[in-house]
Amino acid sequence: MSEHLRLQLEINGQPHTLLVDPRVTLLDALREHLTLTGTKKGCDQGQCGACTVHINGKRVLSCLTLAAQANGQSVTTIEGLAQPDGTLHPVQARFLEHDAFQCGYCTPGQIMSAAACISEGHAGSPEEIREYMSGNLCRCGAYPNIVEAIQQAAVDLSQEAT
Ligand code: FES
Ligand code: FES
Repeated sequence: MSEHLRLQLEINGQPHTLLVDPRVTLLDALREHLTLTGTKKGCDQGQCGACTVHINGKRVLSCLTLAAQANGQSVTTIEGLAQPDGTLHPVQARFLEHDAFQCGYCTPGQIMSAAACISEGHAGSPEEIREYMSGNLCRCGAYPNIVEAIQQAAVDLSQEAT
């Protein structure tokens, strides 16, 4: 029997204490311990990107991250991307406008990945967006609209910054 670990994480700006088996992934901690079910499990092997979240603003695959590795860190999930008043993040708003999803299962991961892709400076052209978003699979084939949405969101964010 493994000992449980007591972890302190900041999730979407709120402090959380978690008592978990050391084997629990960050993905399962979010979904099953914190009932934040926006982060999806498409493969659990690091191959689909549906589980993408941010740790300290950087995108990570939460299925390949142990909850213990996020101890003391700041985690942002799709539920924490909008403003507290409900204003959507530009990536969320542009995904809606450009129909950049169908079933919606890959979408939280796509959006978290896209927000990071833009902040990394990897949204300069459709080719660059395709390359740096290639870790997020979409079987509904929404890729062309995803690229358009990200291009527009990158423009929105650069205008917000000025
Ligand atoms: S569930 Fe993490 S990459 Fe597929
Ligand atoms: S919207 Fe269905 S998998 Fe991407």
